[in-house]
Amino acid sequence: MLKACRVDDVEPGDTLQLICDDRPPIALYNVDGTFYATDDICSHGDASLADGLLEGCAIECPFHAGTFDVRTGEALTRPCVDKINAYPVKIEGDHVYVLLHETAPA
Ligand code: FES
Repeated sequence: MLKACRVDDVEPGDTLQLICDDRPPIALYNVDGTFYATDDICSHGDASLADGLLEGCAIECPFHAGTFDVRTGEALTRPCVDKINAYPVKIEGDHVYVLLHETAPA
């Protein structure tokens, strides 16, 4: 379980890149007060999705504007085709945790 940040570190509509020691980075999203987490690197290229534009539950890649559903990691629009991993998020007290060893329900 990754201790990501404090709840108030990411405003609704914002994203945060989480750097991990032993694995590729994670992108954390605040969608109207609900947190979601996915792989940070786009499945189409070497772009950080945390630098993209979050609109509702869709994150738009900053490189070629493909989109993913942050709840499931499913690719929504081209050129993105392959899904990315999505991870369950847990709030405990004031902190956000990402459960890296589980996959969020589709
Ligand atoms: S690198 Fe993300 S859409 Fe191309």
